[in-house]
Amino acid sequence: SEVYPYVKRDTSFKKLADEDVAFFKSVLSESEVLEASETEDLAFYNEDWMRKYMGQSRIVLKPKSVEKISKIVKYCNEQRLALVPQGGNTGLVGGSVPVFDEIILSVSNLNQIRSFDPVSGILKCDAGLILENADNFLAEHGYIFPLDLGAKGSCHVGGVVATNAGGLRLLRYGSLHGSVLGLEVVLPNGEILNSMDALRKDNTGYDLKQLFIGSEGTIGIITGVSIMTPTRPKAFNVSFLAVDSYESVQKVFVKAKKDLSEILSAFEFMDCHSQALTKKHLPDSPYPFDDDYPFYVLIETSGANKEHDDAKLESFLESAMEEELVVDGVVAQDETELKNLWQWREMIPESSQAEGGVYKYDVSLPLKDLYSLVEAANVKLEEAGLVGDAPKPVIKAVGYGHVGDGNLHLNVAVREYSKEVEKALEPFVYEFVSSKHGSISAEHGLGFQKKNYIGYSKNKEEIKLMKDLKQHYDPNGILNPYKYI
Ligand code: FAD
Ligand code: MLT
Ligand code: ZN
Repeated sequence: SEVYPYVKRDTSFKKLADEDVAFFKSVLSESEVLEASETEDLAFYNEDWMRKYMGQSRIVLKPKSVEKISKIVKYCNEQRLALVPQGGNTGLVGGSVPVFDEIILSVSNLNQIRSFDPVSGILKCDAGLILENADNFLAEHGYIFPLDLGAKGSCHVGGVVATNAGGLRLLRYGSLHGSVLGLEVVLPNGEILNSMDALRKDNTGYDLKQLFIGSEGTIGIITGVSIMTPTRPKAFNVSFLAVDSYESVQKVFVKAKKDLSEILSAFEFMDCHSQALTKKHLPDSPYPFDDDYPFYVLIETSGANKEHDDAKLESFLESAMEEELVVDGVVAQDETELKNLWQWREMIPESSQAEGGVYKYDVSLPLKDLYSLVEAANVKLEEAGLVGDAPKPVIKAVGYGHVGDGNLHLNVAVREYSKEVEKALEPFVYEFVSSKHGSISAEHGLGFQKKNYIGYSKNKEEIKLMKDLKQHYDPNGILNPYKYI
């Protein structure tokens, strides 16, 4: 391909033929099949959120039932037609779009709540339900989805499960490996695997659903999710703090855990460079501070009693100021201010690519080493003469993320994607992370972006076992080919 000169289309896959389209149309109604034509270019489905990866699929299938998905997958397996499962297409590693001409199988028409038990808090829903819709539904019943992220308006419940996304409240609610109770999955041979009735406690053999959580569409299509949801906190507080060093960020974190204890629900950090990009992108929003500081921390508390939480937060902030860990700070006084403060964190992804594109590295590192990667990346890019005003390709390498979970987002904001920048960063970033015994993917997955780099975070035996599992479930390799496995 001209787009990806380093990968070749697997010739064992059949090219889509008229008879295949005829079969799809015999199973699906007109509105469930989208074909490329003069008026329909399918770019929305072929291109990823970062506008970095672009496939060339000529067909998107959007079945409205699990049975239809099963029939289609079975047929594709028999015919050796490759498929890409797609959710809300907000994934950040190029995993949700085709590499060549793979058929796009979107679960977006499978988007209903199946049931909710207001006593246990167990929600059962279709995989294509948009995360925000799931959370709004739960809010009506006094519950909350145990995961929140900036893409909530577009990403699917099934998509976040397939990715094992982490998000902004993992610190409080833990990972989906803990909260997902059961799944309904269409396997590559068309069989439907169902554990939707699973209970909170069930030690009867292997916990099979875990394999599909974070499998990124490589061994099955998730069609249903059963998930344990916590009660919705009645009171939320958000404070946005300025801090003068990364050392102090860590100290504020330790103090927040101690002083805020069970009401701490998010601890996010941002460097000044990420904020500079965000201010530029949101020129009409007033920034909480007049001065610039090296680092910022966003702390969210949530609990059942507003007065109790306010008092705890106030005393935490007072003593953090006294100890000079925090140099300036604001606390949201109402819902609008709370949303405004969150936007300086949640809008970083959009702001970092606003001027052309972004190279994203989502890594886990020991907390003490977390920010040193951003510094090292900037040094590396400067040495290569790639950073500065236009026409230099790189604007800046910025750092932010879920510091409470040891998860850094290194974003290299660029004016355009270029091989030169990519070469300066890869495998440099992966080598750096591996040397500190970190993970090259904390929460976004491997997808297409990191397909050649899995060895930096997994050993030979682990990779072999993964390949064995892939071979077992998908011997013809039709599901999400060319990606990490
Ligand atoms: P897609 O992007 O469509 O797909 C993602 C992967 O899962 C692909 O490999 C795809 O093949 C597979 N897949 C999708 N649906 C299914 C299915 N039903 N069955 C099998 N495989 C499937 N991630 C975080 O972890 N934390 C964050 O804080 C965070 N914030 C974000 C903020 C923004 C603005 C954006 C754009 C993304 C963010 N993400 C974050 C990335 C995150 O990975 C995605 O938002 C989400 O997990 C993907 O959901 P989706 O439905 O869009 O899936
Ligand atoms: C985030 O935490 O904002 C997300 O993981 C998205 C990103 O890093 O771009
Ligand atoms: Zn994140």
